Amino acid sequence: MIDAPQAGDSQTTDPRLAEHRLIWREKPVLREIYSDYYRRMARACRPGATLEIGGGSGNFKEFAPDVVSTDILATPWLDAVADAQALPFSDKSFDNIVLLDVLHHIERPARFFDEACRLLKPNGRIVLIEPGITPVSNFFFTHFHPEPVDMTADPLLEGPLAEGRDAFDANQGIPSLLFGRDKTRFTARFTGLKIIRVQRLSLFAYPLSGGFRKWSLVPAVLVPVLLKVESVLLPLLGPLMGFRLFVVLEKNGN
Ligand SMILES: C[S@@+](CC[C@H](N)C(=O)[O-])C[C@H]1O[C@@H](n2cnc3c(N)ncnc32)[C@H](O)[C@@H]1O
Repeated sequence: MIDAPQAGDSQTTDPRLAEHRLIWREKPVLREIYSDYYRRMARACRPGATLEIGGGSGNFKEFAPDVVSTDILATPWLDAVADAQALPFSDKSFDNIVLLDVLHHIERPARFFDEACRLLKPNGRIVLIEPGITPVSNFFFTHFHPEPVDMTADPLLEGPLAEGRDAFDANQGIPSLLFGRDKTRFTARFTGLKIIRVQRLSLFAYPLSGGFRKWSLVPAVLVPVLLKVESVLLPLLGPLMGFRLFVVLEKNGN
């Protein structure tokens, strides 16, 4: 099933991924919040073979040990190097494809969804958690986050790939555009995929934690309580201030 270049060694690992791995180990508040994301993703998967795209620091394996974890950048802790836009796996080889914070880094998301349709078995799922743009999160992402938010972009743009694009180039608006403003275009373009969940997550704990930055304004011990409070408030406050979008798509049964 796997015919992909193997991941690299510690000499060739991108320093940003090495740093993320270190922060994951040393920042309990980050682990609390991301563990909630990983558990939600694992629960949304169907039984069977799972492929992770953009695995980065490689933490999903703690929650789904049999996952095949890949990234466009080589690291010793992932299973293979793979570009989401041209995946080195055979047709109908996976039951699930999971991505955490990756879709908004992919230059041509439409190429990824074409590849996902090819790789998934009938009824297979794409499970992703991404930045979600709401009035409040847009303010914070725009002013306090290094990655841009461009809500005027066309997330379904086709065309050639740019030379020398960096793996961390991004538009945090892409997931909200695809599953919000451009949802009708998305479903018309990908008739073999059904959107079965679009849910807002993350009100306070995630922005207060500082994510992968070294600071945090909330102690790890408070996170489980905050997440419980958030789950009650999300139906009301999610559209106004949710920082995350949890999306599940299912391939049709043919
Ligand atoms: C923000 S990091 C997220 C890493 C990891 N999923 C996590 O949450 O810790 C984005 C990851 O996407 C990867 N990436 C960017 N473009 C990609 C592409 N076209 N195909 C596969 N991975 C890609 C980057 O190399 C990076 O590891």
